[in-house]
Amino acid sequence: MSARIIDGKAIAKEIRAEIKQRVEQMAVRHGMRPGLAVILVGKDPASEVYVRGKIADCKEVGIQSELIELPVEVTQAELLRRIDALNADPAVHGILVQLPLPGHIEMRSILERISVEKDVDGFHLYNVGGLITGDTIFPPCTPYGVQKLLDHEGIDVEGRNVVVVGASNIVGKPLAVMLMQKDATVCICHKKTRDLAQFTILADILVVAAGVPGLIVPQMIRTGTVVIDVGINRLPDGRITGDVDFEGVRQKASYITPVPGGVGPMTRAMLLHNTILSAERTLGERPKSFKLSAL
Ligand code: GUN
Repeated sequence: MSARIIDGKAIAKEIRAEIKQRVEQMAVRHGMRPGLAVILVGKDPASEVYVRGKIADCKEVGIQSELIELPVEVTQAELLRRIDALNADPAVHGILVQLPLPGHIEMRSILERISVEKDVDGFHLYNVGGLITGDTIFPPCTPYGVQKLLDHEGIDVEGRNVVVVGASNIVGKPLAVMLMQKDATVCICHKKTRDLAQFTILADILVVAAGVPGLIVPQMIRTGTVVIDVGINRLPDGRITGDVDFEGVRQKASYITPVPGGVGPMTRAMLLHNTILSAERTLGERPKSFKLSAL
């Protein structure tokens, strides 16, 4: 068996084209455009690359974006002041603080200061809580992107064994909850899991977000498993690779996402999606919260 390669880059492009149409419609009908503000603290090279990508995406679809670059020594108070100003600005519909933040900044206080209505990353506790009850305003972008990839390929998770490797707040935990909402049987594995293969072998769908290059090898999966690789790792030679031994596992899987070009572009597309949704909500064109199943 050789897996069908899920082309996240192409699917994200389709999503951006749809968003661009919605943005133009909004500009014509209401004379406004969605606005996204991105705060970048310090000069972490990976964060700089991600942020520039997000700003370029906004430009492509006609979303107005503002990049606020702050020095690494910025104080917590100053950062909170910046967020307050963006919360109060009606032209800003989405606020994203790029993570990680420097050690002297208390991340949770920063994320909780962002208005729930503008929390397009979905990291505010209110949005995190909304995931648990099945109502949310903004699902976090990476899990949402994974869900969209599966939907696009017609892969139904209902009643299937989904194994998620990685229990981060950004990917593993919210994704597990979103999949449960769709009636998947979900197992979360993490750093302390003993004998990972014992779990991955049971997966109909395996999602890997561990940040460990080559963690998943062919012997760890059943023939026909759907494999979604969320990992983005930079090798010493500069190449980007995922958490899955792509060449080996593709011989056995039914579907597989490449890295780069799989989940990454979808994460970025879902940020645009959440931003236009936020702007549409201010126009009363969208309900105040969504059933995840309807997204
Ligand atoms: N750093 C790594 N991934 C993300 C993300 O999805 N959002 C933010 N804000 N920071 C990140």
